[in-house]
Amino acid sequence: MTVSVDIDGGVAIVTIANPPVNAINRTVRERLLSLAQEFDGDPAIRTVVLTGVGALFVAGADIAEFDRPVEPPFLPDVIARIERAGKPWIAAIRGAALGGGLELALGCRLRVATGTARFALPEVNLGIIPGAGGTQRLPRAIGVAEAIRVVAENHTVDAAEAVRLGLVDALIEEPLLPGAIAFAREVLEKTLPPPSLDRPLSAPAQEVWTEAEKRIASRAKGASAPLQALEALKCGIEQGAEAGLARERSTFLSLRGSEEAAALRHLFFAERAALRPADIRGIAPRPVATASVVGGGTMGSGIAAALLNAGLSVVLVEQDAAGVSRARDTIAGLFEASRRRGHITGEELAERLGRLETSIGYDGMERCDLVIEAVFEDLAVKRAVFAALGRICRPDAILATNTSYIDPRLIAEGLPGPERFLGLHFFSPAQIMKLLEIVPTPETAPDVLATGFDLARRLGKIPVRAGICDGFIGNRILRRFRAEAETLVRGGVPIAAVDAAMRSFGFAMGPFEMQDMAGLDIAFLHREAARARGEPVPDLPGDLLVRAGRKGQKTGGGWYDYAPGDRRPQPSAEAERIIAPLIGPRKDMAGEAIVARLMAAMAQEGQAILEEGIAASAADIDLVEVHGYGFPRRRGGPMFQLGRADVNHA
Ligand code: CAA
Ligand code: NAI
Repeated sequence: MTVSVDIDGGVAIVTIANPPVNAINRTVRERLLSLAQEFDGDPAIRTVVLTGVGALFVAGADIAEFDRPVEPPFLPDVIARIERAGKPWIAAIRGAALGGGLELALGCRLRVATGTARFALPEVNLGIIPGAGGTQRLPRAIGVAEAIRVVAENHTVDAAEAVRLGLVDALIEEPLLPGAIAFAREVLEKTLPPPSLDRPLSAPAQEVWTEAEKRIASRAKGASAPLQALEALKCGIEQGAEAGLARERSTFLSLRGSEEAAALRHLFFAERAALRPADIRGIAPRPVATASVVGGGTMGSGIAAALLNAGLSVVLVEQDAAGVSRARDTIAGLFEASRRRGHITGEELAERLGRLETSIGYDGMERCDLVIEAVFEDLAVKRAVFAALGRICRPDAILATNTSYIDPRLIAEGLPGPERFLGLHFFSPAQIMKLLEIVPTPETAPDVLATGFDLARRLGKIPVRAGICDGFIGNRILRRFRAEAETLVRGGVPIAAVDAAMRSFGFAMGPFEMQDMAGLDIAFLHREAARARGEPVPDLPGDLLVRAGRKGQKTGGGWYDYAPGDRRPQPSAEAERIIAPLIGPRKDMAGEAIVARLMAAMAQEGQAILEEGIAASAADIDLVEVHGYGFPRRRGGPMFQLGRADVNHA
């Protein structure tokens, strides 16, 4: 039974039991509605305590239902019925009351909660706005300024703040139910406060709206829901709750059917599925308390910082004293930046650095449960590292490489115990980027693979399993994406037009701006190496630019020019002149057509990756793009785009 009822001396205890998160689906709505009617007609019942089974109250509406048309009874009607019930309903909240869960609690006459309770309206993360009165009842319960933060800015209210704001009427120690029942009996003897929707509310000063609009728009990155949530809230204050409710519902329904919301739902489920792939379910990961990072350059320092942030102890190995002190300074600098931004305190900074040990050579390695190699991208150098690790590390220690392109099987050749080896491909900056490509070899043991996924979870990252091919999933698609962008430019489409189209689609940067930032030389050196091996690699515009000394921002120019100290790209007559021999007559192309071409190229590469079994699912490919390559979240990813009718497969 998804909603159960117990009666305790005139108090009906209604428990929503819809594991894992007590989401409100149609059955829950039907049952709550009929119970509200039933209790009102039952003279033996004086009051109702509404709670959820397990560690949380209710995580909101069942998001899985959002792909189907809305079905009655509608949640706003259920909540309105509870709010107007003859027998007062009291919400007893443990853990999260989110989205529709908070809206349901707001429909109750009073709310009690344990210290673990937290309240949020995370709908805007899903491209929608609250759809069951949240934008109207919340400001009337806690005030407009605070409600704006919750409704449109994703603020989570904890139990203490909820009491201070009047969202919670009493804090109750566990066990929650007996306390809530006693509270219910007690309040029956008193005058109850009015329902949330009937509470008086005064309009705030105009600046409150203008400032909120400015703040929200600047953070929305093109997403439409946050501003619309604010609009619904504002409508209810300026025109009254009834108009506000109508506005909220119509906005909710239209956003619910939008592309943006479908994309965000797709990612919501993909992100959760990613942490628990079917083939390692039930396999216990190996314990990892101390990890080593070999190589403390760009990646090694970031990986060490990520491990330290997650509470692990780290032994960082470098080649010499200069390498060690550079790595330590980099990591300390990353923590210092977090402290300045207020993310960690001075004590936390010191504690994290206290867990960092540095070493020249492999002292301390025998203590490590996991080693992540991040030395130069050179097979001989990496093999020498693993030869040493094979001798020194415990036989059960997991050994991982962060290689971007080298076949992990070649790196592991000759390693004693190859079943403990795998690729853990982090993205730069590794302490920030959420993606972790996990690349097992055919010999990797299942519990070693499971440890990779568990590590990702501990680091707060999104793991995606990738098969072995040149560039794994992400870099392989990136290469195709860039090649297609260059094909457009070689066909006469202006460089700046390609970048502008991708920015307007939602990327922070276009492909040429991105190359200028990262540097054109690494890809150039790859091509030169292939040419030196006798492979037929034709000259590309990027080769001409690098040969002319234009390696990107670091040399003052690449595809674009850059004024000293200014990262803004300026169209470059010089670059155009250099690449002119490879460029066709100018061709103007609409932004949407450019986007469609590049999307189709990415999706085609993704399709090939799927067919070859390099990625386990299309959703995994989308996660790689969104969390590793800046693909705009609200667009869902290239494979999601492929599945939508509006993609023009050019
Ligand atoms: N609907 C359907 N399924 C949900 C769900 C929801 N609202 N919330 C979580 N789930 C599912 C997850 O997909 C996951 O399923 P699998 O086990 O099959 O992968 C399972 O519940 C557990 O979720 P998590 O892995 O995320 O568990 P967690 O303990 O890490 O986090 C949580 C729990 C904080 C509740 C988190 O799941 C969460 O933030 N959920 C979404 C909350 C949300 O956005 N609510 C608003 C919904 S929209 C709404 O309510 C609008 C309205 O009009 C009423
Ligand atoms: P880097 O050049 O910044 O750092 C490499 C570090 O390894 C240097 O500090 C060097 O002193 C050290 N090193 C070299 N040999 C060593 C040895 N035998 N023992 C100990 N330390 C040694 O290189 P970066 O960019 O950090 O790349 C490292 C690895 O990560 C490469 O395999 C690269 O392909 C991969 N990678 C790089 C990404 C990036 O964006 N830079 C992204 C993802 C993976």
